[in-house]
Amino acid sequence: MKFFLDTADLKEIKEAVSWGALAGVTTNPSLYARIGGTLADFPAHIDRICTLCKGPVSAEAVGTTRDEIIREGRELAAIASNVVVKIPVTVEGLAATRALADEGIRVNMTLCFSVPQALLAARSGARYVSPFVGRFDDISEDGLDQLSNIIVALNNYDFTQAGVNGENIEVIAASIRSTNHVTQAALLGADIATVPFNVLKKCVEHPLTNNGLASFNADWEKVRNA
Ligand code: G3P
Repeated sequence: MKFFLDTADLKEIKEAVSWGALAGVTTNPSLYARIGGTLADFPAHIDRICTLCKGPVSAEAVGTTRDEIIREGRELAAIASNVVVKIPVTVEGLAATRALADEGIRVNMTLCFSVPQALLAARSGARYVSPFVGRFDDISEDGLDQLSNIIVALNNYDFTQAGVNGENIEVIAASIRSTNHVTQAALLGADIATVPFNVLKKCVEHPLTNNGLASFNADWEKVRNA
């Protein structure tokens, strides 16, 4: 499973890239609003993210009609070669995804909450689909169950002919809120987990690592002083 960072914060992206294990970045309008982003600066901001992280960078189209989404998608894709256009799973979103995929533009279909939505995203040529885990948990349903169903269903079929350049669709486990979500996403076979920076930090940490390190350091002091 690859790790993407779910943020629009350049400091977080720079830091996570420096750890050496980051494969991509996902953003959305809420994450961009959270860092105080402006409409005028949005393309430049996406470009800055694409410079920091060489992997796929998802930038979301906010139009509601297929024509608007297609136009935005083309503009976003022109910012940098690693931009992936993020589009919600709606009728208009599916139609726009098909049109953009036919032009060779990669799409990440987002706000996916069901197997039929994921199958339709794959058939419309999406390069990625993002099932949301945590938002199911928010309404007292099991987001990991839904993620599991989507992975099993997609693995039943071959979507290489539907997508861009014969690439198969990849599942991005999104709306990740905990290290357990990360663990379970990997065990279920998600291709990617997109995680907030605070969760990524927790993924590195373990109390037994800290304890073990403290005792190794203490013992090494004894060696140095012997
Ligand atoms: O990138 C979309 C998704 O990860 C949002 O997560 O925490 O707002 O449900 P969340």
